[in-house]
Amino acid sequence: MGDPLADPRAFRRCLGQYATGVTIVTASADGVMVGVTANSFASVSMTPPLVLWSLQNNSTSYDVFTRATHFAINILAADQIELSQRFAKSGPEKFDGVTLSEGAGGAPILDGAAAVLECRREVEHPTGDHLIMVGHVERYRRSETAALVFERGRYAAAVEHPATRFKDDHPQSSTILHRYFIVLLNRAYNRMREAMAAARASEHLDLNESRVLSAVSAYPSRSLDTLQPITFLDRIAAEDAVASLCAKGFLTVGQAAVLTMTPSGSQALDALYEATLAIEGQLLSSIPEDEFAITERTLRAIVGADVFTRQ
Ligand SMILES: Cc1cc2nc3c(=O)[nH]c(=O)nc-3n(C[C@H](O)[C@H](O)[C@H](O)COP(=O)(O)O)c2cc1C
Repeated sequence: MGDPLADPRAFRRCLGQYATGVTIVTASADGVMVGVTANSFASVSMTPPLVLWSLQNNSTSYDVFTRATHFAINILAADQIELSQRFAKSGPEKFDGVTLSEGAGGAPILDGAAAVLECRREVEHPTGDHLIMVGHVERYRRSETAALVFERGRYAAAVEHPATRFKDDHPQSSTILHRYFIVLLNRAYNRMREAMAAARASEHLDLNESRVLSAVSAYPSRSLDTLQPITFLDRIAAEDAVASLCAKGFLTVGQAAVLTMTPSGSQALDALYEATLAIEGQLLSSIPEDEFAITERTLRAIVGADVFTRQ
């Protein structure tokens, strides 16, 4: 049992167990646009149509949000992680180069969102270190795009639960491959993922730690401030990973918070790299070279040709 006041970081981690979507809430007042990444969004009522989210009291966007007549909840699509990162930091350049349209009350609508709710401010409840803002939904739109997910301090993508996977959606299809193609791809991915998790465990690393270690290896002599976006972890999760890597003797924090990998950190990362190659080798060894061409054609059709030309 934890006491939230005794260890706020542990409390944050506990809250992070609750998987959410990710939104960017926007508003505009007197010609100034604001937007913050927020996962505190929740639906409240159908009749009348009400939703809520909570805004940190120390947000530099606070004044504009409390002066604007409206706000817009932009529910992010799975491919909008970079937008989420950009709107999670203070600064005037958040909207630079972002394709926008104008919603109710001038609230900016972000192109490509999975759904948008245009809300009139209904009521606010100052509570603790946040302001709960309730909005009356005047208009909404949605697309079929999959939504971005945030869970345990990191971005995630929602997949159908394995327990519900074998529903027969295509009774017309004649072969198992046709019928369960995506399910089988997912199963192949999961097999790889499980093997990687085991390889990490044998190097005493978890996923977040291995991401931080890889980032330090790719960009040495930098602080967590500059590395955090590459890890795609939130601040707390990234700091926790740094702390545990230091405790394990894999990383040191030096002057100006510069992160340096120790020889044992570098050894663990090398071993993980070798293990990855071995896992790939083992899983793919029975496939003749020329059959890879078929796999490549299939993957090009599904994920696009550009991944095969990227460095
Ligand atoms: C996944 C995620 C969820 C967040 N949720 C909230 C939230 O619900 N409310 C909030 O005020 N800040 C939240 N933040 C932090 C804000 O995005 C961040 O403090 C804000 O953009 C800073 O800019 P500002 O100074 O304009 O407020 C979240 C950040 C992330 C990465």
